[in-house]
Amino acid sequence: MADQLIIFDTTLRDGEQSPGASMTKDEKLRIARQLERLKVDVIEAGFAASSNGDFDAVQLIANSIKDATICSLSRANDRDISRAAEALKGANRARIHTFIATSALHMEKKLRMSPEQVLEQAKQSVRFARNLCADIEFSPEDGYRSDMDFLCRVIEAVINEGATTINVPDTVGYAIPELYGNFIKTLRERVPNSDKAIWSVHCHNDLGMAVANSLAGVKIGGARQIECTINGLGERAGNCALEEVVMAVKTRRDYFNLDLNIDAQHILAASRMVSQITGFVVQPNKAVVGANAFAHASGIHQDGVLKARDTYEIMRAEDVGWSANKIVLGKLSGRNAFKQRLQELGVSLESEVETNAAFARFKELADRKSEIFDEDILALVNDESLANVQEQYGFVSLVQHSETGERPYARVVFTVDGKEVTSEAEGNGPVDASLKAIEAHAQSGAEMVLYSVNAISGSTESQGEVTVRLQNSGRVVNGVGADPDIVVASAKAYLHALNKLHSKAERVAAQG
Ligand code: KIV
Ligand code: ZN
Repeated sequence: MADQLIIFDTTLRDGEQSPGASMTKDEKLRIARQLERLKVDVIEAGFAASSNGDFDAVQLIANSIKDATICSLSRANDRDISRAAEALKGANRARIHTFIATSALHMEKKLRMSPEQVLEQAKQSVRFARNLCADIEFSPEDGYRSDMDFLCRVIEAVINEGATTINVPDTVGYAIPELYGNFIKTLRERVPNSDKAIWSVHCHNDLGMAVANSLAGVKIGGARQIECTINGLGERAGNCALEEVVMAVKTRRDYFNLDLNIDAQHILAASRMVSQITGFVVQPNKAVVGANAFAHASGIHQDGVLKARDTYEIMRAEDVGWSANKIVLGKLSGRNAFKQRLQELGVSLESEVETNAAFARFKELADRKSEIFDEDILALVNDESLANVQEQYGFVSLVQHSETGERPYARVVFTVDGKEVTSEAEGNGPVDASLKAIEAHAQSGAEMVLYSVNAISGSTESQGEVTVRLQNSGRVVNGVGADPDIVVASAKAYLHALNKLHSKAERVAAQG
């Protein structure tokens, strides 16, 4: 019989730690719902003690998501652990994930603690957490660069205190697949009570090997939980990508012989949602979810695939959520067709009111654009939920003028705390003029560190999806906006970024 492989998603915690990827509570809940549809086993919803915003998000997700285990990260101290337990009260199944660094470098330079002090604190925290929650995960941070003898002592001790999952992070992405796999294997062989816990892998992608290392941890090391994020989102070069690791285990079941609960049909929608919410664009050649992942350009390949699909395809595009028929709806499509397509895309809007509002926007878009693609619908739904949130700034309308030889001008109408304001400016181009007009009123003082436009469905008729990254007082946020008019999309993205800049309180970093 095949073993079960647990998929632990940390998009909302480790993924969110990526600079600029911060999400609002409602955005996190939308992603959590999509992860539930995807049937991930554990959702790490945040780091409850890091900020009030994170606490609220963990609490909201714990109260709303009933199929997955909901987890909160916490440092190894009583206050953090109590906050995590408090936020998780409403969960059907809750997990507290506590961590402390165990590498000589981190203990000496970061924690300024001796190994014996770290061992004591790890034990105490797991003991404390175990009194509040039955499901306890322990991570020795920078575990892969830790001394093997010391790590064995810490792990044995925390299992004795009641830790049910032992996660071995390659915090800095230093591992090599074979070495990491053997590291987990040795730990499991040397820790006397290793069979009392589930072993987990958590790999960062600094050398581009997070997926390979995780799979080696499973195959060679015998781990039965993988920690990963949608699109590999995460600090620096990111984490192990859920879509890649899941499809590797599914496609090569002959080799891994492991069962997964994941419903892969929802992978693409999850990838799109995370990309649109965070503004982190998915590269076209990204495995499984990139625009070209199933595109065959060469004549020989096209001919082969038409004759027999498996000549050049090892997975079916439909199995991960790509639809065969990409032109889905148009001006004449009705409400039912729209609702059905939403369902097929794995999007469930919370209420009839939301569905009606999304349908109205769909009609508005269909008046301006003859063919509506899946990508348009997903962007529209995302835009709709942005519009629903009571944000400080909201887009109303825009007029711009540009002509060869003249300085472009824009007048933007937007709301500030519900009140309409009009602001105008000139700029180097119509986008520049529009954003300057908004900034002239908002006076955020933020520096723009990235501006990018992406044609959602690949032609000039398509909607432009704009990402704006702003930096202010050490905080980095991404704003996203979509519209067939890229100047309007840019203004929406800028306002979205301003809302994010103003909405989040300071937070404590997990690896700080
Ligand atoms: O990478 C890491 O070490 C982490 C821990 C907090 C689990 O994310
Ligand atoms: Zn991590």
